[in-house]
Amino acid sequence: MAVIALHCPQHTVTVFDINKKKVAEWNSDQLPIYEPGLLEVVQQARGRNLFFTASDIDRHIAESEIIFVSVNTPTKTFGQGAGRTADLQYWEKTARMILEHSSSDKIIIEKSTLPVRTAQAMENILNTNAKGLHFEVLSNPEFLAEGSAIQDLENPDRVLIGGHDTPGGKKAVQTIVDLYANWVPRERIITTNLWSSELSKLVANAFLAQRISSINAISALCEKTGADVEEVAYAIGMDSRIGPRFLKASVGFGGSCFKKDILNLVYLCESQGLPEAAAYWEQVIRMNEYQEARFVANMVSAMFNTLAGKRIAVYGAAFKANTSDTRESPALAVCRGLLAEKAELVLCDPHALENARLDLGDDARLVTFEINPYIAAEGAHAIAVLTEWEDFTRLDYKRIFDSMVNPSFIFDGRNILDRAKLFEMGFNVFSIGKEPLLHFNQHPTE
Ligand code: UDX
Repeated sequence: MAVIALHCPQHTVTVFDINKKKVAEWNSDQLPIYEPGLLEVVQQARGRNLFFTASDIDRHIAESEIIFVSVNTPTKTFGQGAGRTADLQYWEKTARMILEHSSSDKIIIEKSTLPVRTAQAMENILNTNAKGLHFEVLSNPEFLAEGSAIQDLENPDRVLIGGHDTPGGKKAVQTIVDLYANWVPRERIITTNLWSSELSKLVANAFLAQRISSINAISALCEKTGADVEEVAYAIGMDSRIGPRFLKASVGFGGSCFKKDILNLVYLCESQGLPEAAAYWEQVIRMNEYQEARFVANMVSAMFNTLAGKRIAVYGAAFKANTSDTRESPALAVCRGLLAEKAELVLCDPHALENARLDLGDDARLVTFEINPYIAAEGAHAIAVLTEWEDFTRLDYKRIFDSMVNPSFIFDGRNILDRAKLFEMGFNVFSIGKEPLLHFNQHPTE
């Protein structure tokens, strides 16, 4: 919304949220999320045509011509479809609230990621009204990635708008095309029917996650055979049909979208009587869980089959670099695995410690949170690098090695460190999809 406000000074954008604390933060220079470049965009538009508010929802709804609904749609935790499909209660409440306070026709946009055909349900709620009002529901999924959100919004590969093939639907779609055309080239704004647009969002994320699970499956094989997963990824990525992006083997993928959207897709396939298609996509998630569990298992076996009482410095809590977000972070999954082994954890992250503490819940009591990576590693038996923050590549690892317990181990879950140099310093080095570099005669897992 901030980027829309920046590029469309002729429109007024009001962002409403029920969380007063968050709204206060959006109105300050301490935004509630860490996202490079966002503050600058907000500062340019805020107070001009961008407003954040937690009050007067009735008036804001009444005055708006277009409403983007971006409420959360977490995975349902109860009843039918629990653990798989999206919980639509917030979406439905919002639709009913819009209806209650509206006195003119409006365009309603699904910005939240939703199961296919949700728009239909919302339309039914909105258009069954005694006021004689018409609501045109469109789907406009968001493809930005965290950490590069501003770049992705400024220069998107594509903007997708789905609507009905009716005169009203076409007119509404054109209005939103014109909005984005204020800064996005027309040829990158694509329009489809509603269901294709809803489904495309789930499928895009499923394909991206599938690439990661595919290369991670190969990383396990590389560790056994002496092939190097980075060399393999490079070699296959040179094939223009495959392409080089999203082939970075890692400790696993995280974030609020991939798992949730795949579960959604799986549920959709199942509910349409397509169990084979469901099982295919579900395996992408299983492979990710395997990769996280394998990482912990490798640490245990490398460190003489016991981690109990051993201090381990965990570098990174965020699900990827340049974000404070720890939702579904593989780093926290690994932390839980290490805690189950009774390791003593010191968790270090430049921006995500606060969220990590919240996400770890009761387990947070068992973890020391330390912003300084040098202090985190003091007296540690091992370091596990779980987020690819650039900060971690610039550390003085000789100094770190000297402060650790011998033999010292480093497990690079993101392949961001110079492993040959670390080995020379004295570390036993484990990377993803590569043979370990050990100062022992024997492979410790054998
Ligand atoms: C994703 C989609 O990219 C975006 O289009 C959609 O709108 C939301 O979901 P995001 O979750 O912010 O975005 O992050 P993304 O960059 O896709 O990374 C997801 C996870 O995959 C991270 O944990 C990342 O570290 C991991 N990853 C990514 C890999 O392990 N290897 C890769 O090659 C790429």
